[in-house]
Amino acid sequence: MICLRHVSHSYSRPNGQRKLALKEINLSIPPGSFTAIIGPNNSGKSTLAKILSGLITPSSGQFLFEEVEISQWSPNSLRKSIGLIFSNPEDQIVFPTVEEDLVFGLENFCFDSGEIEKRVLDILEFIGMREYRHFSIHQLSGGQKQKLAIASMLILGLRYVIFDEPISFLDDTSREEILTLIRKIHKRGATVIYMAQFFEEIIMADTIFALVNGKIQWQGSFTELLQKSDQMANWGIEVPPVIQLVNRLQKSGLTLPHSIHTVKQLVDALRKIKYEN
Ligand SMILES: Nc1ncnc2c1ncn2[C@@H]1O[C@H](COP(=O)(O)OP(=O)(O)OP(=O)(O)O)[C@@H](O)[C@H]1O
Ligand SMILES: [Mg+2]
Repeated sequence: MICLRHVSHSYSRPNGQRKLALKEINLSIPPGSFTAIIGPNNSGKSTLAKILSGLITPSSGQFLFEEVEISQWSPNSLRKSIGLIFSNPEDQIVFPTVEEDLVFGLENFCFDSGEIEKRVLDILEFIGMREYRHFSIHQLSGGQKQKLAIASMLILGLRYVIFDEPISFLDDTSREEILTLIRKIHKRGATVIYMAQFFEEIIMADTIFALVNGKIQWQGSFTELLQKSDQMANWGIEVPPVIQLVNRLQKSGLTLPHSIHTVKQLVDALRKIKYEN
């Protein structure tokens, strides 16, 4: 369980002033859950992601990880438990080949060569890149680089994986592949925390928090989020056109299921209405 109580964080600016990036955040993230944090630019998502992964210490408030104050955790145990994946895989990959990048973390933790070999094979199988073991990084596509960045974290045996807008640098095909991989990581038992700007990325979340100007303004499920799209738009969160259209149709008196969020679902629902009348 991750628990934040009254967590605030401010940065100092070159002009000597301080920027309050997070304000009084209260969050509980149970093990095995899939939590999404949605917010517009500069709302504090990356700051929160860095705090949750132990990369920065909040200016004030309490952060408990598995009921123990975060400062009591050794940096090594924390690194093996919680990992952060950035938007740009180039920021995360440090070695020239796939294998070297995967092995580095394990060697640091002094795993023996048999265990390293086993973990490398397992993780390459898991991300569907077994034949890429000896490839150099520049031979990989953007999506494959992001898979490798994720694998280099997972190989340590993480229980909590935090994604900070992990598909924003990728093309449509790679985006789908990475979202599928994240679902698989969650199914395998990891707790997932996903920072997003867009509705489409967080359909699979069981709990969603809206982070606006450093404050948590709302909490609910994805279906509840769909009903709040006017509010989200006011907060600067982009609402997909199909959801805007569904809302307008609902407001004009058409009874449509609350869970519609794709064009296909809308077309199916409209067809159903047509046949019923
Ligand atoms: N190192 C820093 N020094 C000073 N201010 C910072 C620093 N990092 C972030 N900020 C400020 O803190 C606020 C929150 O930034 P943060 O990067 O956490 O938001 P974000 O939601 O991740 O934004 P984006 O959608 O652009 O990634 C912003 O106003 C930002 O300018
Ligand atoms: Mg960010």
